[in-house]
Amino acid sequence: MKDPVVIHKGLDNVYVKESKICFIDGEASRLFYRGYSIEDLAAHSTFEETVYLLIYGTLPTKQQLQDFEKRISANRSLEPGMQQLLRSFPTTSDPMDVLRTAVSAMGLYDPQPATDKTEERIDKALRILGKAPTIIAAFDRLRNKKEPIPPESNLTHSANFLKMLIGKVPDPYVAHVMDVALILHAEHEMNASTFSCTVTASTLADMYSIITSGIGTLRGPLHGGANEAALKTVLEVGDSSRAEEYVTKALAEKKRIMGFGHRVYRTWDPRYVILKKLGKELASKEGQTKLFETAEAIEQSALKHLAGSSIFPNVDSYSGVVFHTLGIPTDLFTPVFAMSRISGWTAHAIEYLEANRLIRPKALYVGPTSLPYTPIDARTS
Ligand code: COA
Repeated sequence: MKDPVVIHKGLDNVYVKESKICFIDGEASRLFYRGYSIEDLAAHSTFEETVYLLIYGTLPTKQQLQDFEKRISANRSLEPGMQQLLRSFPTTSDPMDVLRTAVSAMGLYDPQPATDKTEERIDKALRILGKAPTIIAAFDRLRNKKEPIPPESNLTHSANFLKMLIGKVPDPYVAHVMDVALILHAEHEMNASTFSCTVTASTLADMYSIITSGIGTLRGPLHGGANEAALKTVLEVGDSSRAEEYVTKALAEKKRIMGFGHRVYRTWDPRYVILKKLGKELASKEGQTKLFETAEAIEQSALKHLAGSSIFPNVDSYSGVVFHTLGIPTDLFTPVFAMSRISGWTAHAIEYLEANRLIRPKALYVGPTSLPYTPIDARTS
């Protein structure tokens, strides 16, 4: 007798590979990239170094890091054709759609987009990683009727992005906050977009197709969009004095508090702890404490009402506040998340390809068979 079919809806608890990239202990509030704690990486690493770590598996030497930084920054400029393409998009386009389309188009400007060599695949991924901030910043300027600011190769990934977006080189603390935010968003195990990239990689498709799949999957509100929703809540509440009323009403109406809850973390998201501290420092440094205080009041009230449950603040409870304070427009939050996560997607695609097996699950057919084909004129509605 055949074994009964088990349907793993949502693929909950289905393991698709062994991995050495990321470990989440959702009960103990721990997150590690390649064995290093997120707290150590946020305190001591840089985004570029973290990307190297995720892709190559070890921390680089000084020389390896310098070479790697150059390899990324050399990719920042857009070909004239790509610049023209950005100018041709409707200014009302969602920036996430722009990024998805531009990354896909980037493959057209690569004379040999497909390769089966790991190092060449990494080259193409770094091409995408290097250009993604340029695309996001250029589109934001174009839609605001401003000329794009060309990238600078002597700035860090984070400082260069803020410069291209806002128009001035950020002060070192602001650039550091951006850098930590990118580190915190770089990788998070086999989530929906990483799985999407892994499926595409398993067909031996090129890196442009792999990353485009990830961006498309991250775009959905159940995945990448929660940071925008959390900030909108904070802006709507507007003042810490209204937080309790908002939370009480939302929970009574069975609404979810954005920035709370997680499929894997059943306690504090360790990224939340880091971002909250940075957000507080940034707010007081920039003299914009009201938004932070409102977010904190919502958090305190939600924690009180949800006490005893396993619903705790996640990374998105403060990421929107931090991005907003950095001067990043709300609809760029998810593209910025993508700009960082390209590193994790690449690491997983490369790891999966080392022992590739085409991903081809099954669907249990429950429809009819052998129906008689009816000619169109004989069909009734
Ligand atoms: N606010 C209030 N209640 C919440 C909640 C939240 N943010 N998140 C979960 N819950 C409640 C659910 O309503 C549900 O209650 P019920 O059993 O009475 O119906 C219970 O907790 C379990 O919810 P479930 O959907 O099974 O949790 P999950 O682990 O599958 O969901 C999320 C995880 C992230 C989808 C969910 O917590 C959520 O929607 N959070 C808000 C959006 C967000 O911040 N996303 C970013 C994630 S990094």
